[in-house]
Amino acid sequence: MAAPLPPALRERVSAVHGAAALPELLRLYDEWAARYEEDVAALQYRAPALAASALAAAVRGPPGAARVLDVGCGTGLVARELQRHGFSWLDGVDGSAEMLCRARASRLYRELWRCILGSEPLPVPTGGLLCMTTRSNPSNLRYKAKLEATLERLENQGAWEKVLAQEEERWERATSEEESIQGTGYISGVVYLYRKCPVPPLPES
Ligand SMILES: C[S@@+](CC[C@H](N)C(=O)[O-])C[C@H]1O[C@@H](n2cnc3c(N)ncnc32)[C@H](O)[C@@H]1O
Repeated sequence: MAAPLPPALRERVSAVHGAAALPELLRLYDEWAARYEEDVAALQYRAPALAASALAAAVRGPPGAARVLDVGCGTGLVARELQRHGFSWLDGVDGSAEMLCRARASRLYRELWRCILGSEPLPVPTGGLLCMTTRSNPSNLRYKAKLEATLERLENQGAWEKVLAQEEERWERATSEEESIQGTGYISGVVYLYRKCPVPPLPES
């Protein structure tokens, strides 16, 4: 049985999970940025490794030639895992200035943008893959539905095609009994991968 999580960590994570609205959520991520990596290590957070494995399986050709847009890149944990699979052409977006500051310091991204997903257009690179992840625990289901609606819009606009939406059970340790899946002590999550659609050629005049 895993050791109990420290109460202060539970409080930080519960505050983020319980954020009522996006401005509050991003403010909490700003405040959490300095301790984020330490805390998610304690939670046995697997999203970055799962996202990187899914990308490595989906990429066509050598990973080093694939451009990847890491959406909600946080401090850069996905980039770190992607590098281990041979990816090196990485761009990132995030809504939290403090998380982005740490992603910039990692020097793993070519370009980083501050972008509020759902209310601002994604900076769309000319080709490649988009990855993002989110939790599927009860307190995140409303946010997850919104996120999926945003991704569906991008798909309907013909900008991106879905490669996969992969549910994963042992995403990270649960911070409460109610959130834990069937008493496992873990919550689940989803990895989304999209591929940029080629821009159709202009009709000849
Ligand atoms: C759980 S963290 C994941 C960070 C990173 N992908 C990782 O696996 O460590 C979620 C990130 O998404 C960002 N985020 C959440 N909602 C967002 C939104 N609507 N627009 C932009 N960024 C958002 C947060 O600032 C945070 O950095």
